[in-house]
Amino acid sequence: MTLLDISGVSKRFGGLQALQDAHLKVPAGSIVGLIGPNGAGKTSFFNVMTGLYPADSGTFILNGVPYNPSAVDQVLKAGIARTFQNIRLFKEMTVLENVMVGRHTRTQSGLFSTIFRTSFNRTEEKQIIADAMQLLAYVGIEKEAQQISKNLSYGSQRRLEIARALATEPLLLALDEPAAGMNQTEKKDLQLLLQKIRDDGTTILMIEHDVRLVMGLCSEITVLDEGRVIAQGSPESVRNNPAVIQAYLGVAHHE
Ligand SMILES: Nc1ncnc2c1ncn2[C@@H]1O[C@H](COP(=O)(O)OP(=O)(O)O)[C@@H](O)[C@H]1O
Ligand SMILES: [Mg+2]
Repeated sequence: MTLLDISGVSKRFGGLQALQDAHLKVPAGSIVGLIGPNGAGKTSFFNVMTGLYPADSGTFILNGVPYNPSAVDQVLKAGIARTFQNIRLFKEMTVLENVMVGRHTRTQSGLFSTIFRTSFNRTEEKQIIADAMQLLAYVGIEKEAQQISKNLSYGSQRRLEIARALATEPLLLALDEPAAGMNQTEKKDLQLLLQKIRDDGTTILMIEHDVRLVMGLCSEITVLDEGRVIAQGSPESVRNNPAVIQAYLGVAHHE
């Protein structure tokens, strides 16, 4: 079954065509990779897909149901949660509070009550804390629950972003370069975590620069270059695709 089916996505920024008729399918229960040279349009694709920027055109279907990516909270409600290439956390809040904010999208109390601690529903609040602690344990940072988020190591901040996204109970977890800035050990641990998330039933779409990580994790890969899809298929077919090799060599040549 196809969980995410996006087609015909175009997006222009002024004179720049960031995406041109881009498309992508993610089978339910899989990990799919979105790769391509710097500036290919990968993050723009995520931004359009998750309602950060309006698309000029495109069809967006999640779990067989068309969704309208016109607002971030609607996309979240539809079942897509994401992380950011440049980590976006509530830096002055604790680790636990960051996950509680994600949790509130699925419960009665709003974001306001989490931040300003004005919740009237103490029973629900206790449940939210318990759920958040469980998620922190799941991603392996429960010991840091009471730390201020900005004081966490880079690798732990990336894990916290994943925990916060998972707190919304998404059908699809979209990760924008989750391994950026990580050392080899952290990358290996991240690989295990993402496999666990997939095995526990959450489908993953990931943008990633580290080719070894992508090849090791993904069952299918889509390659963007200059806003267009130039290849799509198994890791092996993509690795040996002349257009893909050319796209990466072209960038290496210019840099
Ligand atoms: N908000 C924006 N305003 C103007 N140009 C943008 C914006 N976001 C991205 N771009 C441009 O779109 C192109 C694709 O960028 P991006 O999607 O970030 O690529 P990638 O994630 O593949 O490296 C780049 O040329 C970038 O400068
Ligand atoms: Mg990017």
